[in-house]
Amino acid sequence: MKIRFTLTRVASVVLMAGVLAISVTGKSAFGQQPALKNAYKNDFLIGVAINQRQFTGQDTNGAALVKAQFNSISPENVLKWEAVHPRPGADGYNFDPADRYVEFGEKNGMAIIGHTLVWHSQTPRWVFQGDGTNALDRDTLLQRMRDHIHTVVGRYKGRIKGWDVVNEALYDNGTLRQSQWLKIIGEDYIAKAFEYAHEADPDAELHYNDYSLETEAKRNGAIALIKKLQGQGIHVTGIGSQDHVKMDWPTTEQVDATLTALGKLGVKVMITELDVDVLSARGQNRSADVAEVQRQTTPNIYTNGLPDSVQQALAQRYADLFGVFLKHRDVVSRVTFWGVTDGDSWLNRGRQNHPLLFDRKWQPKPAFDALIEAARKAGGGR
Ligand code: G3I
Repeated sequence: MKIRFTLTRVASVVLMAGVLAISVTGKSAFGQQPALKNAYKNDFLIGVAINQRQFTGQDTNGAALVKAQFNSISPENVLKWEAVHPRPGADGYNFDPADRYVEFGEKNGMAIIGHTLVWHSQTPRWVFQGDGTNALDRDTLLQRMRDHIHTVVGRYKGRIKGWDVVNEALYDNGTLRQSQWLKIIGEDYIAKAFEYAHEADPDAELHYNDYSLETEAKRNGAIALIKKLQGQGIHVTGIGSQDHVKMDWPTTEQVDATLTALGKLGVKVMITELDVDVLSARGQNRSADVAEVQRQTTPNIYTNGLPDSVQQALAQRYADLFGVFLKHRDVVSRVTFWGVTDGDSWLNRGRQNHPLLFDRKWQPKPAFDALIEAARKAGGGR
C-alpha cells in the first residue's frame, strides 16, 4: 500500500508540476514536443475534434495539447442540431457553447470546421413532428431546415471555414438512408441543404461526410451523389471520409483505392474523424447493430493500458494510414482525429479503448512518434 501511495503522490506532483509550468510560463509543457501541425505543414491540415471542457479551458491539459499540436478543430457535439437548436422557433437556439468553440479556434488561429447541419442522428424529435393533427409535410420541413441552416451558418459567416453540410446519408450498399429527411422531403433534401448553406455563407467550404467509404458499394454511392450535386450546379467543395477504422479494416489498399477514386471528383478530400478501435472484433461492421453487439461482447481487455506489443501495432497502423494519406497529399486537404486523448474518445462507451495518439495522461503514445517519423521520412516541411 505504501508503494502505491508513494506512486500516487509522485503522479500528483508530476501533474501539479505540469499545471504549474502552464501557469508560470504561459507555455504548456506540451509546447516542447514536436508538433504534428508542423510536421505536416506542407501536406495537409492536422485537426482534432474537441469537447466543451477543452474549448472552455476546463480541461487545461487538453486545451494546451490542442493548441500545441493541431491547426484545425471540429466540434464533437456542440454544433449538432440537438445541441445548438434544441427547441423550435427563433428563441430555441443555444449558441453559447458553439460561440465559445468558434472563439477558441479564432484565438488560436485555427481552421474552424462546422459539424454538422443535416444528420439523421442527434436531431431533436420536434424537427420531424407535425402539428398534432397532420403529419409533417415537405414544405414545412424544408422551411425548418432552411431556417436552421441560415441561422447557424449565417451566425458564423466568414468564421467557420467549412461545414459538414450533410452527414451519413448513405447505407453501406450505397443507397440513400431511409431517414426522416428523405421520407418527408424526398431525395432533394441533400441538394437543398447545400443550397441553403451556400446562401448563408457563399465563401464557406461545403462537404458531404460519411463513414466506411472504403466499402466499394458505399463509395460508389457517395461518388454518384457528389456527381449528381455537381451536375445540378450545387456548390459542393469537399467530401469527408470519416475513417473510424479498426486494426485491420480497412486495408491500406482499400484506403488507397478510396482516396484515388474520391480524388477524381475535383473536390477536396478530407479524413474527418480518424481513430483506430483497438478493441472491436476485426473486419468491417456490416451494420450499426452488429457494431453494438460487438461492443457489448468484445472483452474490455486493456483496462490497465495497452501492452507494448499493441502500442507498437497501433503505431504501425497509424504510420501505414498516413503513408497512404501522404501519397494522396495532392487531394487530401485535412486529417482530423476524432478526439484529443484516449480518455476523450466516443469509442470508450463503458470500456477502456485506446484509439488516439495521446494517452489518458495527455502523453504521446508510440503512434504519435511514428507519425512524426513518417513525416520526417516523407521529407516534408518539418
Ligand atoms: O448532452 C447529453 C448530456 O446532457 C447527458 O447528461 C449525457 C448522458 O448520457 O448525454 C449527453 O449526450 C451525449 C452526447 O454525445 C454529448 O456528449 C450522448 O449521450 C452521446 O450519445 C453523444 O455521443 C456522440 C455521438 O457522436 C452521438 O452519435 C459522441 O460524443 C460523438 O463523438 C459522436 O460523433 C459522431 C460524429 O458526430 C459523426 N460520425 C460518427 C461519430 C461517432 O459516432
